[in-house]
Amino acid sequence: MKFLLVAGARPNFMKIAPIMEAFRKRREDLKNLDVLLLHTGQHYDPKMSDGFFEDLHIPQPDINLGVGSGTHAQQTARVMIAFEEVCMRERPDWVLVVGDVNSTMACTITAKKLGIRVAHVEAGLRSWDMSMPEEINRLCTDVLADLLFTTDPIADANLRREGVAPEKIRFAGNTMIDTLLLHMDRARALPLPGGLRAGGFAVLTLHRPGNVDHRQTLCSLFGAIRDIAARIPVVFPAHPRTVGRLKEFGLLDQIQGENSIRLLDPLSYLPFIGLVTHSRMVLTDSGGIQEETTVLGVPCITMRPNTERPITCEIGTNILVGTDPDRIRAAAMAVLDGQTRPSSIPERWDGHAAERIVDALLA
Ligand code: UD1
Repeated sequence: MKFLLVAGARPNFMKIAPIMEAFRKRREDLKNLDVLLLHTGQHYDPKMSDGFFEDLHIPQPDINLGVGSGTHAQQTARVMIAFEEVCMRERPDWVLVVGDVNSTMACTITAKKLGIRVAHVEAGLRSWDMSMPEEINRLCTDVLADLLFTTDPIADANLRREGVAPEKIRFAGNTMIDTLLLHMDRARALPLPGGLRAGGFAVLTLHRPGNVDHRQTLCSLFGAIRDIAARIPVVFPAHPRTVGRLKEFGLLDQIQGENSIRLLDPLSYLPFIGLVTHSRMVLTDSGGIQEETTVLGVPCITMRPNTERPITCEIGTNILVGTDPDRIRAAAMAVLDGQTRPSSIPERWDGHAAERIVDALLA
């Protein structure tokens, strides 16, 4: 049996790491098990890629397609062309993709057209918002995949509603949380950046095109963030896309000049989780961070109109506030005033999702 595992962008790496490890353990008994790791190169900066491989002890990829950045069509097409050659050469029995980035969809389409079976990890998440490129990637991937591993029962229900045969759907749990549970003590023990004390700062991440690509939206978000920073220092590890836009809109110098907003380069996995663990709250437009904060018990204010991860709002620490600066301010001030609600951790986010996935694939 030959498995070809695909990772392409930053949020993929923590999802693939425990699956690689679960396969490594099984390979000790199963001599005819062949597992290859492929990196599409969608993310390529050391701070967006290599640091995660080092922190999470992910083996160096067997293959790197080196596709880099581009428009959606360019990036997707480059992945498809290069991945097709790999599939024709390697002839895997299964391709395994994770998450919802362009690489996920591109490799799924390519493999299926060559008659290769596809497993999708983190299937069934839906924001119902077709302006998000990730929603298109999720829909295309899930309609084609042969085995769909879900993180929660809401995702199972979404897939069933879309007509996916129940026997293809497996409620496995969350491999990103496998990684979090394995590494959080190591992350928590790291020193905080100078001048910060545990519980005395907020973390900000912002990178969605819908939030950062339009001057007016970005300015108005930073209006709210400045007001929050007047009460608590805000640490902001910034995505390269966001730094590019801040520069373009003439906001970068202003933000760098603010004492209470600390702009950092993107952080690798351990320092980032260390920061979140010790923070008072997180302000974000990321998907995965909504889940990590729920497990860590840190209040999360999500600056998006919708979420594909509603379970984090239903039982976790996540509050969806959209991009209205008044709502963002009010939610943050409520947290700072001690108004937090009880939260719990979703079922099967227990550190064993990758084992369940590998067992199902080998069965
Ligand atoms: C991608 C994913 C998104 C995920 C995000 C996490 C898609 C459609 N989007 O968005 O779901 O939340 O990754 O980061 O797949 N860049 C660099 N260095 C890099 C990579 C990117 O400088 O290593 C810059 C380039 O200017 C590039 C831009 O970031 O054009 C956007 O990168 P891209 O991979 O297209 O999408 P992300 O915004 O990172």
